[in-house]
Amino acid sequence: MMERQRPISPRQACKEDLCAIAALETTCFSDAWSEASLKDTLNAPYARLICVDVGNDIAAYACLYLLGDGAELLRIATHPAHRRCGLAHMLMQACIKEAGEAGAQSIYLEVRASNAPAIALYDTYGFVTDLVRKNYYKNPTEDALCRSLSLC
Ligand SMILES: CC(C)(COP(=O)(O)OP(=O)(O)OC[C@H]1O[C@@H](n2cnc3c(N)ncnc32)[C@H](O)[C@@H]1OP(=O)(O)O)[C@@H](O)C(=O)NCCC(=O)NCCS
Repeated sequence: MMERQRPISPRQACKEDLCAIAALETTCFSDAWSEASLKDTLNAPYARLICVDVGNDIAAYACLYLLGDGAELLRIATHPAHRRCGLAHMLMQACIKEAGEAGAQSIYLEVRASNAPAIALYDTYGFVTDLVRKNYYKNPTEDALCRSLSLC
């Protein structure tokens, strides 16, 4: 029987990771970010790309923007082969730590109203819904829940 590889602690992504993160994007999102846009994000001083390795692969990643006293979680995704192993928990904890250290008082995010796994994840950390944006998402059309977590 093959031994399941343990995830390595979250780390900051570098340019050599962008191809793998773009592949993860394509697997996880209908509006996947391209490698070129990930490169722009990596180079933005306010952006953090945080990833988790399992073996030689990037199994999960998050994109966080640090915007003064607020932070925005734009992406969090785990490859389907590595879901329900706690990788998103690892990323959320890393993002909350990073945002707090940067002086953010809140973290904001948007999530599709039907995305039960992500909503359950955010609920665990105490995110609350501040606003519903009707028909905000396309492909398929769906409401967005605008949620926030106070770090104070
Ligand atoms: C949401 C997502 C990131 C969770 O990743 P994961 O690594 O499987 O999550 P974890 O194993 O760390 O679980 C974290 C929590 O998420 C929730 N969760 C994850 N998958 C779930 C599921 N299928 N059903 C219900 N809750 C779920 C649970 O609250 C879980 O905590 P628990 O295991 O202590 O109960 C993953 O399903 C994913 O990549 N989805 C596609 C991309 C996406 O929709 N991202 C969010 C929008 S940007």
